[in-house]
Amino acid sequence: MPRIAVYPGSFDPLTNGHVDIILRGAKLFDRIIVAVLTNAEKTPLFSVDERLAIIRETFTDSPNVEADEFSGLLIDYARDKHASVIVRGLRAVSDFEYEMQMALMNRHLQPAVETVFMMPAEQYTYVSSRLIKEVVALGGDVTGLVPDGVQARLASTARLSSQKRTSKP
Ligand code: PNS
Repeated sequence: MPRIAVYPGSFDPLTNGHVDIILRGAKLFDRIIVAVLTNAEKTPLFSVDERLAIIRETFTDSPNVEADEFSGLLIDYARDKHASVIVRGLRAVSDFEYEMQMALMNRHLQPAVETVFMMPAEQYTYVSSRLIKEVVALGGDVTGLVPDGVQARLASTARLSSQKRTSKP
């Protein structure tokens, strides 16, 4: 039986911290499905299709990394995909409480699926999608913190919003 893992999240946007976790997972599991939650935020920076495209182009050289979308209960999605593992990244103690609650709720719902926590490389422990969006919106540089595909798209998003700010109606 192939060992299938699901790595769920919003990935708005994918960061190098996510990439680090996915590459670690790809070494441990036969398949790792990066599953984008479709109904998370009302006003996401990137559409689900863009987020899937970013994941696919970032992992073109990793044949056991797949991108997919899901809605509803994660545990139902994991069952449909025959996944026995949910992967989550833990950056700091502050992540722990929320992650523990989710892992235990998912275990309550489906004891056969195990949550596995992995730590990203130290240089990404402060990186989050939320902070990336904030820094970019305020004109800061996130080089080295997000994959190239994200960086390019963020640059055009920043250009668009600065155009909106400067152009007269
Ligand atoms: O990257 P995020 O936003 O921290 O990911 C959160 C995610 C997608 C893992 C979580 O919100 C989730 O699993 N949502 C699906 C709904 C669900 O199953 N809820 C009960 C889990 S305790």
